[in-house]
Amino acid sequence: MQTLNTQFELIRQSATVSLTDRILALKASGRQIIGLQVGDPDFGTHPAIAEAALKAMQDGQTHYGPSNGTLELRKAIAHKLQRDEGVTYDPASEILVTNGGIHAYYTAMQSVLNPGDDVLIPDPSWATHSNMATMLRGNVIRVPAPAENGFIPHFDSWLKALTPKTRVIVLNYPSNPTGAYPNREYLQQLQDFAAKNNLWIVSDEVYGSLYYGEKPTSAAAIAGAKERTLLVQSLSKSYAMTGWRVGFLAAPAQVIANALKASQNSITCVAPFIQKAAAFALTDPAIQDVTVSMRSAYAKRRELVLRLAREFESDKVIVTPSQGAFYFFLDMRPLKMSSVEICEKLLDDVGVALVPGSAFGEQGEGFARLCIAASDADVEAGFRKIVEWAEKQ
Ligand SMILES: Cc1ncc(COP(=O)(O)O)c(C=O)c1O
Repeated sequence: MQTLNTQFELIRQSATVSLTDRILALKASGRQIIGLQVGDPDFGTHPAIAEAALKAMQDGQTHYGPSNGTLELRKAIAHKLQRDEGVTYDPASEILVTNGGIHAYYTAMQSVLNPGDDVLIPDPSWATHSNMATMLRGNVIRVPAPAENGFIPHFDSWLKALTPKTRVIVLNYPSNPTGAYPNREYLQQLQDFAAKNNLWIVSDEVYGSLYYGEKPTSAAAIAGAKERTLLVQSLSKSYAMTGWRVGFLAAPAQVIANALKASQNSITCVAPFIQKAAAFALTDPAIQDVTVSMRSAYAKRRELVLRLAREFESDKVIVTPSQGAFYFFLDMRPLKMSSVEICEKLLDDVGVALVPGSAFGEQGEGFARLCIAASDADVEAGFRKIVEWAEKQ
């Protein structure tokens, strides 16, 4: 019998825990499940964006397009990065249009990571960050981002994790699953550390527009940082366009040249009619207002969770106010159960679906991720059920 590629075994070992099958089985048996597990906006894509795509299709934009993306979209992205992050990118050489943020991350890592290189990734973080690094034969070193420090690594944890083989730091702020992000001074310190040790920073900022306090600073916006920063962004979360599969990588020209080869040889290009709609979404002033109103809706739900948390004053479900994204990383360690056990019981006993914190790394053990990209009613009912259940354990 032929042997399978061992890198998939590496991924299996670090496998993310998924309760999807269990949720589907329960739903099929007629159980009502409050789904607070999926990180997908509950808003529809704005109809004007869909119309732009439809018109482009009718106009014949249904063939192959340029592999780095249409110039129109690359210009729109450069405009957006200047407008929102205050960073200047050359649409001709420093931007690659990708199949969502996940593909931007993939091409970024393909471009700078050599097999055997060490990659520093905070723990907890979105599983794809470490899975992809492992698939590319990188050696992942997790940097603890403890709840007690607001889910941001203590700075000396970076120093401790550094080895002579370290090549890349992966950041994701605002974070999935914690919603945390550091201040500008911290990012400056991290960029200085990267410069001193000749490291790339891959910064996944797909939640960059979802914040509830001061706007987070892009890692690329730190003085002198652009030359070593690979910026991953996407329209998925900020424009409620997850199914459109469009995002981008903004990085130094030499990186984009590499990433383009990686992209060309895997996806050819992003569908031109999708790119047309994406360019419209990024630049149309009315659509920017829509993104602000979605943020306000998430902010209201976030307030709702915080109000309920204050009312309950539970010492079994500890709520750290999230600063951004649409998640809460609930600290349920006082229950002394594993994350998987907690989520399985919540599902079976009270029909609420969350993601086990351990899916995001060792530091997530005892936690569960709650997503507020669901209706106000589901967020409220779901959170009440979680706390009432926890109090009975
Ligand atoms: C941190 C993070 N990065 C990237 C992605 C991928 O998003 P996209 O739909 O743009 O591929 C996700 C999706 O959940 C995410 O949470």
